[in-house]
Amino acid sequence: MDNAKKKYYLTTPIYYANSRPHVGSAYTTIVCDVIARYKRMCGYEVAYLTGTDEHGVNIERAAEKLGISPADLVDRNQQIFRDLWKLLGISYTDFVRTTEPRHAVAVQNLVRRTQRVSPDAIFKRKYEGRYCIYDNLYVSDTPEPADCQICGRPAELISEENYFFGLSAYQEKLLQLYKDQPDFVQPDFRMNEVKSFVESGLKDLSISRKTIKWGIPWPGDHEHVFYVWYDALTSYMSGIGFVDGEPNSKKDSDRFKKFWPADVHMIGKEIIRFHAVYWPAFLMAAFPDKKLSEYMPGRIQAHGWLLFEQEKMSKSKGNVAYAEPIVKALGNDALRYYLLREVVFGQDGNFSKDALITRYNADLANGLGNLSSRTLTMIENYCGGVVPAQTAAPPNLHELTSTTFYNTIRNSYDKFEFSDALTIIWGLVAIADKYLAQEKPWTLAKDPAQKVLLDQVLYVAAESLRIVSVLAHPVIPDATQKIWEQLGQAGKIENVSINDLQWGGLKPGTRIGKPEGVFPRADKKETLEKIETMENEIRNPGAAAPATSHESQVTSQAPTQGENLLATSHSPLATASIAKIGIEDFAKIELRAGIVKSAERIPGADKLLKLMVDIGDEVRQVLAGIALSYAPEDLVGRKVVIVTNLAPRKMRGLESNGMLLAASVGPDGKPVLCTFAEDVPAGAKVK
Ligand code: MSP
Repeated sequence: MDNAKKKYYLTTPIYYANSRPHVGSAYTTIVCDVIARYKRMCGYEVAYLTGTDEHGVNIERAAEKLGISPADLVDRNQQIFRDLWKLLGISYTDFVRTTEPRHAVAVQNLVRRTQRVSPDAIFKRKYEGRYCIYDNLYVSDTPEPADCQICGRPAELISEENYFFGLSAYQEKLLQLYKDQPDFVQPDFRMNEVKSFVESGLKDLSISRKTIKWGIPWPGDHEHVFYVWYDALTSYMSGIGFVDGEPNSKKDSDRFKKFWPADVHMIGKEIIRFHAVYWPAFLMAAFPDKKLSEYMPGRIQAHGWLLFEQEKMSKSKGNVAYAEPIVKALGNDALRYYLLREVVFGQDGNFSKDALITRYNADLANGLGNLSSRTLTMIENYCGGVVPAQTAAPPNLHELTSTTFYNTIRNSYDKFEFSDALTIIWGLVAIADKYLAQEKPWTLAKDPAQKVLLDQVLYVAAESLRIVSVLAHPVIPDATQKIWEQLGQAGKIENVSINDLQWGGLKPGTRIGKPEGVFPRADKKETLEKIETMENEIRNPGAAAPATSHESQVTSQAPTQGENLLATSHSPLATASIAKIGIEDFAKIELRAGIVKSAERIPGADKLLKLMVDIGDEVRQVLAGIALSYAPEDLVGRKVVIVTNLAPRKMRGLESNGMLLAASVGPDGKPVLCTFAEDVPAGAKVK
């Protein structure tokens, strides 16, 4: 099928800008990036929209806590999202922020249009009920206490006159939509959940708020701002240039006219109701004069959660892993490959750094990386750096190089069965490896009479490498581009048509590039330590500036201090401006004098020491990243300054209950412990 020039419009949810992204939030964006890259290789013109959700109470409150304005908070955080997407090689084409004026105009126009073309759809009514400020969900329409169905926290009581959307009137129309577009929600079992929800009856929905200031003003009634979900969902339109949606509008961009409606809204499973019930109903009310196909998204695709110790990874639970340290330690492709290969798309998946490094070493370093460096080095050494002559592929490779092989992989990508696609692709890596092991080109090379066989073996290995690179490119874009160049292939691998890929495309006689390793083997212990140190830098409240894409800074100066030392201006991540805090913020930190009772090394951790510190009324276990600067025996009896009201954290399976203060000296940030020149009792307050 010729897909050339067909359009494909894909969106991620827009992320709450109240905090920085973690691996869970990166997951949705990486999955969409894989789809976007794959679709481009299928010949589609792709619009890939992502962005940040910047209004609402949770933003207001997060800003208040930090003592900054909501505008400053979202400005800062949206940049962290953009930096991370850059680091992860995300090929989005459009980024929308809900605080942009173009977005506010779009939201107001969509409501104005709705009021005009569906006069009964929006009305004023008194609202009294429970509302979750974290998930922006109306939890119940009665004043009785209730917990949020998504996060489980108690919902707040709200009582005010609001604008309502008459959702109940859309029940039949929605059910008809699900009938007409049976794959409107995917996976199927989610479609069934949505249908049952709608069949059980719909309640009208409050779409404005009076008590909140941080939002888009309601047109003509500035006492109200928009309910954040009405605001946020409209970003799927404003983000690509929707302005008024009028017939032959001169204001809507050509891009909007070309790409809207979206082919896929990719979302996490917890926000299905907003996308599969509210959003289509809002659109039906706004465009009753249009054909469904002109405005209704093609599909709402729900994925599962990344779990950390069986719970959803989320900032509020404090069980998050961050993407930046992983990328800086192992490269962008490592995280992308692990998430796509390990998590069965659509289901929940456990996240573990240990498993990530194991997967990296097995499939990337020992698998593809090894195949690539062996093959290219042998072509360099035995064939003068030129791709040898092609002869018929031997029978044991035939099956994997048949059309069925490519079709199966494309089919898996089309169905978003990424793990399956990767398993099949890596099947080819394994077969090529086995073939090399059987034929032993290093032995063949010693006998000139075996030259034809040697050429064939190396051709097969190199061609397998080319094929694998093209097929795996959507998932591991960086390494595959490098292998592509090392195979002497011109241009960008992303421009190769995945539909036209077939065995034999590698031209004999091609001069290969300089063979260079793409996935160096990772020492598990060292890598884990490196990642944990960088994670601690991110979590450490002393490090005001976020991790950015300055990879060299972090990897070349891996900080020597561990979790239990406040980051200082020498910390690689504590670069830019450190915000001033008031005395009331400082007063939140409890500092005390402590006396070290015992100190010991932790097996497997080079930098950490386990200390027992007497703080007057108790003896605390504290882990400190000072092992490279202090011998345990020199610390016993020493007076230290300890932060005593820091939430306990686990490192290397051990709990740390406090943090020692130290100066960070020199470019390596050598820790020098704070102490007292005069005598102080254990437990004395430090102010
Ligand atoms: N702002 C709303 C979306 C509005 S879209 C019009 C929102 N934001 S969010 O930041 O909370 O979540 C954004 C996406 O990140 C969701 O798809 C969510 O499922 C995903 N993830 C957040 N934590 C996650 C995991 N632990 N695992 C997988 N995805 C998760 O909802």
